Amino acid sequence: MFSEESFFKWLVSIRRRLHAHPELAYQEEQTARLITEELKKLGISFREGVARTGVIAEIKGAEEGPCVALRADMDALPLQEETGLPFASQIPGVMHACGHDGHVAILLGAAALLKDSPPPGRVRFLFQPAEEKGAGALAMIKEGALEGVSFIFGGHIDRHFRVGEIAVNEGLICAYTDSFTIRIKGKGGHAAWPHEAVDAVVIGSLLVMNIQTIISREINPAHPCVITVGKFQAGNAHNVIAEQALLEGTIRSTDAETRKRIMESLNRISLAMAEAHRAEIELEIREGYPPVINHPFAAKLAKEAALKVVGKEGLVTQPHPSLGGEDFAFYLQKVPGCFVRFGAVKKGLENIPAHSPKFDFDERVLSIGARFLAEVARVSLKYLSGVKK
Ligand code: NI
Repeated sequence: MFSEESFFKWLVSIRRRLHAHPELAYQEEQTARLITEELKKLGISFREGVARTGVIAEIKGAEEGPCVALRADMDALPLQEETGLPFASQIPGVMHACGHDGHVAILLGAAALLKDSPPPGRVRFLFQPAEEKGAGALAMIKEGALEGVSFIFGGHIDRHFRVGEIAVNEGLICAYTDSFTIRIKGKGGHAAWPHEAVDAVVIGSLLVMNIQTIISREINPAHPCVITVGKFQAGNAHNVIAEQALLEGTIRSTDAETRKRIMESLNRISLAMAEAHRAEIELEIREGYPPVINHPFAAKLAKEAALKVVGKEGLVTQPHPSLGGEDFAFYLQKVPGCFVRFGAVKKGLENIPAHSPKFDFDERVLSIGARFLAEVARVSLKYLSGVKK
């Protein structure tokens, strides 16, 4: 149906249209419209309005049979784009800075390939809202996204790998991501009379430094984890002692025991700091996404597919687990599956991470990602039909 070149051009046009019109979590209405329009053109049936703005499409191959799900996330980030690209975001303060525009194009590409040459079974395509925030995966699952599904696969565009590389790992590849808020209440006062006040800025600063010792002095260094305080708000004037301070941060960990230990220590240090400095301190910890744990057999299927698409030299592994979070984890709690990394570093942007206002990727990844997802569905269905017989 497509030549290699027209397929690539089609994927690029989808990606660029999405990139110019990014939408935040659960607001992906235009994105969903673009997806359903393309699905209609491909003659693939779908259900829209799933988990508010999600779309679920399905191809029933030559025989009715087992079902494999493939997933893309759709949402953008609250960020002002600074790439200067001709197709840069037209929405102020919103940007596709994580490559989810590419993920949607890749999944539509996989749908086109599978429609063209039907697989031995059913393939379900999950266009999921709200990955960055709002646990869209959970919402999709609640609306039946995984019913009858035997395996699920997905991937993320990744600048740590070259185009033509696909990283496939077994086991844990993304961290637990929990967040916290600390509210410090001291006593405001005149900058020149500290003895009459309780300075929330000084206490907040001590606390920021102190909680770093949880990682450096309390946790086994062989267990990857990190605490980052990303927000520290306090004070209104240079000559007034601040009465209150607000800290917000994230805890990333890769095993349940370390995670528990960090939470307990954060609580202990906050309480002790309040006591030591005559302040009131309130700590709130919110549980976030679970870790992404790839099923060994699904990883084997993914490797087989990757070998077919990128060959031996393209099949790589992620050397360490990432401490990033990914709500694909929720699917993997329900069905076996594998989440991979699509190499996509763009020349000159080697040091520009995802979530940066300058983020961009090499678009050649689009057809590679699409071919991989189509292939992994095919490989898995072949295996499943064999098992059934
Ligand atoms: Ni992402």
